[in-house]
Amino acid sequence: MSRAALFLRKRGIHPRLAAILVGRNPASESYVAGKRRAAKSCGIDSLLFRLPASTSQSGLHALIGRLNRRRDVHGILLQLPLPARLSAEEALVRISPEKDVDGLHPENLGRLAAGVPRFVPCTPKGVLHLLDFFRVPVEGKHVVIVGRSRLVGRPLALLFIHRNATVTVCHSRTRRLAQQTRRADILVAAAGRKHLIRASHVQKGAVVVDVGIHVSVSPSGAKRFHGDVSPSVRRAAGVLSPVPGGVGPETVAQLLANTVRAAARCLAAKHAGSFERSHLHRL
Ligand SMILES: NC(=O)c1ccc[n+]([C@@H]2O[C@H](COP(=O)([O-])OP(=O)(O)OC[C@H]3O[C@@H](n4cnc5c(N)ncnc54)[C@H](OP(=O)(O)O)[C@@H]3O)[C@@H](O)[C@H]2O)c1
Repeated sequence: MSRAALFLRKRGIHPRLAAILVGRNPASESYVAGKRRAAKSCGIDSLLFRLPASTSQSGLHALIGRLNRRRDVHGILLQLPLPARLSAEEALVRISPEKDVDGLHPENLGRLAAGVPRFVPCTPKGVLHLLDFFRVPVEGKHVVIVGRSRLVGRPLALLFIHRNATVTVCHSRTRRLAQQTRRADILVAAAGRKHLIRASHVQKGAVVVDVGIHVSVSPSGAKRFHGDVSPSVRRAAGVLSPVPGGVGPETVAQLLANTVRAAARCLAAKHAGSFERSHLHRL
């Protein structure tokens, strides 16, 4: 159990994450199961709410509304993608910003842009944590991010700017991608294109973080995971994060850290200071 969760539990607050799964998407099922297992091992309770693929937008909003009102639920996770009929945008905005542990509510993204973050999206936060863990200096470095999604690339660019890096963001309309990526001291691949980044895209000795996840199944039924970065990059890069086992577990860890943070808001004032001094800076 994490020490921060234990601190809260001893004071009667049982951190609790509510996950919402709409429809039957095997990848989403497996991600949510992994997140719930990790939560349990850290002392975070989790609840799973399954909605059929035929759920209406208003049915989804009604569930989110009920979870917003529950005092025993501290974090709400809406597993994406939703079935094509439903709007993730409209649903995410219904989640209380104080329970938005994925950090995707416009208020939380706006706070991040303004430099006063509350919940930071988990994958970008995980990328920074990975670099910090391996003591990769960020300040003054040229960071190139391939991908500008709301989930990964855009918030990650903000985090790097706040850490005094010089940031280039590339996307599907970027011309001569390799010319841009070869200028990177730190290259982050988050394009959702298997093996898009090859050795010719990488400056010798660069730090390369692979956010992409692609699953292939062999004729024997064995699953293999691939990233946005081709294995050939290992020769050129100074450091390359693995897939699986790199950004994926970091993302889960940051979701749990955000949930504990959300639960800590329920602490009585007399304990809040002690929590802040001992635990908050680690989350
Ligand atoms: N490890 C984890 O826990 C984790 C978490 C989240 C996501 N992921 C993975 O990370 C990847 C990205 O996810 P996402 O949600 O950010 O994907 P996304 O929403 O599809 O965004 C992909 C971004 O990459 C850009 N792009 C696509 N093809 C490109 C190309 N050929 N050259 C340059 N840029 C290109 C797109 O540009 P436009 O904006 O112009 O379309 C877009 O900005 C996926 O593989 C996803 O599975 C992993």
